Amino acid sequence: MMRKKAGKFFIIAIDGPAGSGKSTTARKVAQRLGFFFLDSGAMYRAVTWLALENKVALNDSSALAVLAEKAVIDFRQQDGKQLIFVNGQDITRQIRLPDVTNAIAPIAANPVVRKILVEKQRVFGKLGNLVAEGRDIGTVVFPNADLKIYLNAPAKVRARRRVTELAEQGVEADFAAIYSALLLRDANDSNREHSPLRRAKGAVELDTGDLTIDEQVDRVVRLAKERME
Ligand code: DC
Repeated sequence: MMRKKAGKFFIIAIDGPAGSGKSTTARKVAQRLGFFFLDSGAMYRAVTWLALENKVALNDSSALAVLAEKAVIDFRQQDGKQLIFVNGQDITRQIRLPDVTNAIAPIAANPVVRKILVEKQRVFGKLGNLVAEGRDIGTVVFPNADLKIYLNAPAKVRARRRVTELAEQGVEADFAAIYSALLLRDANDSNREHSPLRRAKGAVELDTGDLTIDEQVDRVVRLAKERME
């Protein structure tokens, strides 16, 4: 039975708070199914990086709108890795730097920027099957997605994962500092006026606190296959 909903391509929307394992899960699900992986957070990071580079004030809505509108954002695959380019420049590494992460909240809260980036994200949904991850994918970007997932995990578990991740990169991190930064990001994501983080209608909630990444990926792939049959 074909249970596919509206639209030509199969779309999987994955939302959830920072550290819930969204990115890794979405990337691996995309690899397993041969779908495109759309990292929407990377697009907010790209606009933030552009604003910092061009010394645009983070509260200057009209200048930010011009930057976002003009930005040509594309994703390229290289040696099994996905790179992000903005206006032809590879900024994969730069968008993960703390300067960008620390400056992102007002940009992600800006409704003009969000509208522009949502339109750009929807274009990817017209090109092929995809797995998109972010905060508003199932609620705003692709409300008719064929499968919606809400990944969650207790804040302490997410903070511990972040500390381990940093340790693997040789960075020693203080749990208390990471934990409070994460609570702040949760509050920013959930309490902002425009497109706050919410579990979308019809989303399957997975608590990843007790799941390994492989188990999360298996669950999502299984759900997707059931709906593709
Ligand atoms: O997932 P991430 O950490 O790369 O996201 C970076 C920031 O962008 C994060 O603070 C939340 C925001 N974001 C958003 O508001 N909407 C999305 N669809 C994706 C990310």
